[in-house]
Amino acid sequence: MAYIFGSISILIIAILGIKYVLMLVVKLNQWRLFTKLPPGSLGWPYIGETLQLFSQNPHDFFTTRQKRYGDVFKTHILGCPCIMLANPEAAKFVLMTKASLFKPTYPKSKERLIGSMAIFFQQGSYHAQIRKLVQASLSLDNIKPVIPKIEAMAITTLDSWANGRVVHVFHELKKFSFDVAVLSIFGELDSYYNKELKDNYVTLDKGYNSFPTMIPGTSYFKSVMARKKLGKIIKEIMEEKREKRIATRDLLGYLVNFNEDGKTLSDDQIIDNVIGVLFAAQDTTASILTWVLKYITDYPKLFEEIQGEQMEIYKSNGNGKQPLTWTQIKEMHITHRVILESLRMASIISFTYREATQDVVYNGYLIPKGWKVLPLFRNIHHNPAFYENPQTFNASRFEASSIKPHTFMPFGYGSHACPGNEVAKLLMLVFIHHLVTQFRWEVVGPQGGVEYDPFPIPQQGLPTKFFKTSDNTRLKPSTLTC
Ligand code: HEM
Ligand SMILES: *[C@@H]1O[C@H](CO)[C@@H](O)[C@H](O)[C@H]1NC(C)=O
Repeated sequence: MAYIFGSISILIIAILGIKYVLMLVVKLNQWRLFTKLPPGSLGWPYIGETLQLFSQNPHDFFTTRQKRYGDVFKTHILGCPCIMLANPEAAKFVLMTKASLFKPTYPKSKERLIGSMAIFFQQGSYHAQIRKLVQASLSLDNIKPVIPKIEAMAITTLDSWANGRVVHVFHELKKFSFDVAVLSIFGELDSYYNKELKDNYVTLDKGYNSFPTMIPGTSYFKSVMARKKLGKIIKEIMEEKREKRIATRDLLGYLVNFNEDGKTLSDDQIIDNVIGVLFAAQDTTASILTWVLKYITDYPKLFEEIQGEQMEIYKSNGNGKQPLTWTQIKEMHITHRVILESLRMASIISFTYREATQDVVYNGYLIPKGWKVLPLFRNIHHNPAFYENPQTFNASRFEASSIKPHTFMPFGYGSHACPGNEVAKLLMLVFIHHLVTQFRWEVVGPQGGVEYDPFPIPQQGLPTKFFKTSDNTRLKPSTLTC
């Protein structure tokens, strides 16, 4: 008897105990009990899969894992456990539907060079406020009136190339995209300030991807110093603007004049965002425009189609005597499609990062708090399920509305999607117009290779010789097709 009672009481205690432990676990962390991590390998401890990532093309790294584990998988890179998202639904979930549960995350060393109050690093109401101002300053309504200035910059750039010297296209296009960014940020800018900004920004840029150490003489150290000087210069420009009390419709004007119920922005908030937009605008646009040039060089038929479209506009403007109008730019359909296909092919922003601010469940998988998630734009853009023969350049893909929702995200998606996308496309269209109507060129460097800068660019930035043409010998209008 005693033996049976003993067993029963042990059993009861055991059951109560298990129940208590279970309740505790459920209370502490409901999700973790019922959900599992996505498949994948976390690699060797510490080093994770970083070594493998950098010993091959990052796209191949992700693609082999996507084949093995599916569209959502875990890995371990750069010292962090990460979850990769290689399908449109998952990207949409993180960037849009549940954006508030995922915060932007960048290495501290990079945040320091741009400024921690810049739009990219922010979330919530401050982000929304800044974003409204950035969007307004980069809106088409604001940019249309400065089209003639953008055009003049494109012409000056191209003319400076057309003496037969070897031009490293990417590196020289950075100056052009910088000038356009300066225009949308500052409006008219004194040439003294312009030069000071440019010189210091070049130094900042050089150290951006270098090893972050504050030892004097290193690139990173010089970058941090240049960042300090940039802050001072922008502050001076800002103070002049405040004194003049003119509400200009450029980004700095919007930031300086921001006032919501008496709340204004601090100098640092303004400076960080000015540098942030400069940073966002320059390499991205220069890289895509370099790819466009590479593709139209590689595919002569493409060049002819674009040239045909642009020559018609050029002629109707009295051989370039009248400036381009917005209506003309809007109707550059062939050229526009070539830009879209270049954005897809090159996918220069191949992925972005976010960090889960709490445990999140996606599609039955646990995304633990503190883990990084990486929507893989490039893998989505190169998935044969969405793009037939994804490795083939085919601008006709963008002819009909055949692109499936959320499968084309060269400018990101959701709450942090690129507010500069219209400006970027506009300046590329203007540049291409002048390029193909008045110049011919010859790529002289090694061809076929890709460098990471850290965006992919053609090897050596596409060394090319340019010549100005008056007779447009390469034009054959009779063979044009659309
Ligand atoms: C072809 C050129 C460009 C490409 C491919 C591009 C791409 C992108 C992408 C993918 C994002 C989102 C990043 C993320 O979600 O983590 C982004 C954000 C951003 N871009 Fe661009 N961009 C380009 C040009 C520009 C230009 C010309 C400007 C400004 C004049 C600009 C300003 C910004 C800003 C301010 C953000 C941050 C938005 C936010 O955090 O809310 N971009 N861009
Ligand atoms: C290009 O894309 C269009 C539209 O998707 C398709 O009809 C055509 O066959 C493609 N051309 C090539 C060469 O793949």
